Amino acid sequence: MACSKKLYFIVLNLIVLSLSVHGKLSINFYSSTCPNALNIVKQGIAKAIKKDARVGASILRLHFHDCFVNGCDGSLLLDDTSTFQSEKTARPNNNSVRGFGVVDDIKTSLEKACPGVVSCADILAIGARDSVVYYGGPFWKVRLGRRDSRTANRSAANAFIPPPSLDLNNLTSNFANVGLSFKDMVVLSGAHTIGFARCVSFRPHIYNDTNIDASFAKSLQQKCPRSGNDAVLQPLDYQTRFRFDNNYYKNLMVKKGLLHSDQQLYNGNKADKLVLRFASKPGHFFAEFAKSMINMANINPLTGSNGEIRRNCRKPN
Ligand code: HEM
Ligand SMILES: *[C@@H]1O[C@H](CO)[C@@H](O)[C@H](O)[C@H]1NC(C)=O
Ligand SMILES: *[C@@H]1O[C@H](CO)[C@@H](O)[C@H](O)[C@H]1NC(C)=O
Ligand SMILES: *[C@@H]1O[C@H](CO)[C@@H](O)[C@H](O)[C@H]1NC(C)=O
Ligand SMILES: *[C@@H]1O[C@H](CO)[C@@H](O)[C@H](O)[C@H]1NC(C)=O
Repeated sequence: MACSKKLYFIVLNLIVLSLSVHGKLSINFYSSTCPNALNIVKQGIAKAIKKDARVGASILRLHFHDCFVNGCDGSLLLDDTSTFQSEKTARPNNNSVRGFGVVDDIKTSLEKACPGVVSCADILAIGARDSVVYYGGPFWKVRLGRRDSRTANRSAANAFIPPPSLDLNNLTSNFANVGLSFKDMVVLSGAHTIGFARCVSFRPHIYNDTNIDASFAKSLQQKCPRSGNDAVLQPLDYQTRFRFDNNYYKNLMVKKGLLHSDQQLYNGNKADKLVLRFASKPGHFFAEFAKSMINMANINPLTGSNGEIRRNCRKPN
C-alpha cells in the first residue's frame, strides 16, 4: 500500500516535471518567492496610465518588440554599453518606443519587496496583460519565469521587428520567423485598437495607397503633410484610442486602417475572413487575442540558469 502510494507520487512528480520542462514557464512561478509580484505590477500600470493615458499601449508594444528580437528576454530595455548597441535606437524603435520609466518604477517596487527575484522580461509580459485589461480588453493568466538577457542586438531589432510598409505575405513570414502563425498575426495586429502612430509611419499609406477611404486619407493629410511634421501623432483606431475593443477590425472593413500594414489585413485576401469574424464577434477576438498573446510571450524565453535577474532593467548586472 505505502509502496504503491510512493510509486504513484513518483510518477505524478515525473509528469509534473516533464510538463514544467516542456512548458518552461508557469503561472505560479513567483507565488512563494514574491507573492505580491502580480499586484505590484498591476498597481504600477494603473498608476502610470492614470498619469499618461497612452502609456499602457506603449508597454504592450514594448513586450512585442522585446519578444520579436531573440525572444522575450528584456533585451529591449537595455541601454547602450561599451560592448553592444541598444535596441532602443533600432529603426522601428528610435523616437518611437516609450514607457521605460514605468518599467523602472515597477522594478524599483519589486526590488524593495523581493530583491533579485522578478525579471524585467516578466514585468513586460505582466504589464502588457494588465494594460490590455485596464483599457477594457481580455484577461489571461501570464506564464512566468523568464530571465533577462545580458546583451542586446540592434541589428537583430532592425531585422526582426516588422515595418509598416510590409504586404500581407511579408507580414506573414515575419511572424513565421518567430514561430507565430498567420492567425496570430491577424489577431495580434488587433493591438492597434489602442495607441498612436507618427506621421512618418503612416505617410506612404495616406498619399500613395488606393485601398484607403478618400475622406479619411484627406483628413489625415491635413495633419501629416508630404514632408515635415514627422512626429505628429494620430490614433491607430480613430474611433476609440484608449479602449481595447474590436473597432480596429471594423475600421479595416471601411478602409480606415491607419498603417499600410493594417489595411493589408482587409484587402481582398485570405485575412479578410478573420477580420470579418473579429469585427462581428468581439468575444471571439478577445479569446483569440489572449491565446495569441500567450504564444507571443512564449517565444524563446531564457529559463533555468540562463541569463540573469537584472537588478536594473537598463543594464546587465
Ligand atoms: C503586424 C505587424 C505590426 C506592424 C507593422 C506594427 C507597426 C507599428 C507602428 C509603425 C506603430 C507606430 C509607431 C510610431 O509611429 O511611433 C505601432 C504602434 C503600436 N503597436 Fe504595432 N505593429 C505591428 C504589430 C503589433 C503587435 C503584434 C502589437 C502588440 C501585440 C502591437 C502593438 C502596438 C501598439 C500598442 C502601438 C501603439 C503604441 C503607443 O501608442 O505608444 N503592434 N505599430
Ligand atoms: C535616432 O534618432 C536620433 C534623433 O532623431 C538621431 O539623432 C539618431 O541618429 C538616431 N539613431 C539611429 C541609430 O538611427
Ligand atoms: C545580431 O543579430 C544579427 C541579425 O540577426 C546577427 O547576424 C548577429 O550575429 C547578432 N549578433 C550577435 C552578437 O549575436
Ligand atoms: C516580400 O516577400 C517576397 C516574396 O513573397 C520577397 O521576394 C520579398 O523579398 C519580401 N520583401 C521583404 C521586404 O521582406
Ligand atoms: C509615393 O511613391 C513614390 C513612388 O514610389 C515615392 O517616390 C514617394 O516618396 C511616395 N510618397 C510617400 C509620401 O510615401
